[in-house]
Amino acid sequence: MDKFKILDEKIAEAQLGGGQSRIDSQHKKGKLTARERIHFLMDEGSFEEIGMFVTHRSVEFGLEREKYLGDGVVTGYGTISGRLVYVFAQDFTVFGGSLSETHAEKICKIMDLAMKNGAPVIGLNDSGGARIQEGVVSLGGYADIFYRNTRASGVIPQISAIMGPCAGGAVYSPALTDFVLMVEKTSYMFVTGPNVVKTVTHEEVSSEELGGATTHATKSGVTHFACANGIECINYIKKLLSYIPQNCEELPPSLPYEIGNESRPKLNSIIPSNANQPYDIRDVINGVIDEESFFEVHKDFAENIVVGFARLAGKSLGIIANQPAFLAGVLDINSSLKAARFVRFCDSFNIPLLVFEDVPGFLPGTDQEWNGVITHGAKLLYAFCEATVPRITVITRKAYGGAYDVMNSKHIGADMNYAWPTAEIAVMGAKGAAEIIFKSEIASSPDPEAKLKEKELEYLTHFANPYRAAERGFIDEVIKPEQTREKLIKAFKMLENKVDKLPRKKHGNIPL
Ligand code: HXC
Repeated sequence: MDKFKILDEKIAEAQLGGGQSRIDSQHKKGKLTARERIHFLMDEGSFEEIGMFVTHRSVEFGLEREKYLGDGVVTGYGTISGRLVYVFAQDFTVFGGSLSETHAEKICKIMDLAMKNGAPVIGLNDSGGARIQEGVVSLGGYADIFYRNTRASGVIPQISAIMGPCAGGAVYSPALTDFVLMVEKTSYMFVTGPNVVKTVTHEEVSSEELGGATTHATKSGVTHFACANGIECINYIKKLLSYIPQNCEELPPSLPYEIGNESRPKLNSIIPSNANQPYDIRDVINGVIDEESFFEVHKDFAENIVVGFARLAGKSLGIIANQPAFLAGVLDINSSLKAARFVRFCDSFNIPLLVFEDVPGFLPGTDQEWNGVITHGAKLLYAFCEATVPRITVITRKAYGGAYDVMNSKHIGADMNYAWPTAEIAVMGAKGAAEIIFKSEIASSPDPEAKLKEKELEYLTHFANPYRAAERGFIDEVIKPEQTREKLIKAFKMLENKVDKLPRKKHGNIPL
């Protein structure tokens, strides 16, 4: 009986982490504890803990006297909406959630199980990085995790929630995973914190400004989601999982759907009559997909492109759409990076791609050129060219220049391309084109301005429509907006058994 008592006492001790006062301090900061996070994340009663009594092996800097059961991380498995997941939650009450050799071993153990059993890994990060007192063994521990993150990439989904201050290795592991979520005001991500920044660069910056959720959601794009609090963050993880499969061998889960009247007349009135007037591409997306099914990813970063998951007739899709309401929907460095990463995630996990295109071209200028828009734009091109999942494009309005090619054109392997009657497919906009090809005619005209207008109109009549492309078969069908949903449901059904393989190779060499 005493032996059972000892077990109960040990469990109670482990559940207390670094002690009640440290738990209270977490709560005071508006943070949940590691165990509370797991409780809210997993299906009730489904969590099975692994390695509850693990302790560190260090003996330096007084560590031999200070040991906590579990060593600052709660690891295990369970279900979310009935589907298996592996999870680790770092416990900030134990040495600031810092990663020791044994803490790393616990994380590696569940990552290995996840790989063998084909299920997602969810990391709830709240850690000061490598445990300073342990030296190289903690660095080695991080490297062991990075190695597994990379090996698991494209095999099982990996999701990282940043739920407290995270530094050093605690930010590099999440950066290797598929999705990063952050909590506003209580979570930070930086390689080096404000104090080190001040010492090295004499720059004064707050934690929030340097690496808060808003900074990473808007400026760096490191995080895909900025959540109002811990509970919202956990709910976002659950929602994200609902669109994606367990591993690269499976299809994403789908909801039951019965085909009915799929005509959506509201779509007919979205495109403004003036081709230069903006509109919100989300109105098109929401008008086409299953009601309320759009789950936007990277919402506040590179807003000139919109990406996210949705359902069409109950089936999961990845949507990539130029956004005319922001910078006229132009492609630039950040929008290319954002979209390329999303395309590659969807392609890795068998999620078909739907593209809505309204793009005036790539953003010109020294800023873009000097920062490598050529290389970064090529990433999006590469990502689309390489994708083997079913791929459909709908051109709603502009499809100009290189951006026509890049945005999932048939030439780079899209399966079906539709255009609305409002589509304009050409090498460049009318004014620029007229100025170049009718340069001498305009210059020698008694009224050059009127001549330019006349030539612009001639060019527009010739090219500002989808019919030239349709004549060549580059567009499979010109459709009325109201027909879009029905056409897409049928076409994706037609592509359901698509098999397309890349040439045999070790791996490609995406222009990084
Ligand atoms: C050991 C650590 C620790 C660490 C925090 N603690 N970080 N212990 N190793 N890395 C401990 C503190 O000593 C403290 O212990 C408790 O955790 C809470 O820390 P506070 O500083 O009081 O909390 P807060 O003010 O919220 O600040 C959190 C923090 C800060 C921003 C994370 O602690 C910090 O800057 N830590 C160091 C970050 C860092 O440089 N890590 C190494 C990165 S190198 P007590 O006993 O007082 O409660 C790395 C290499 C990996 O990770 C490879 C990368 C490629």
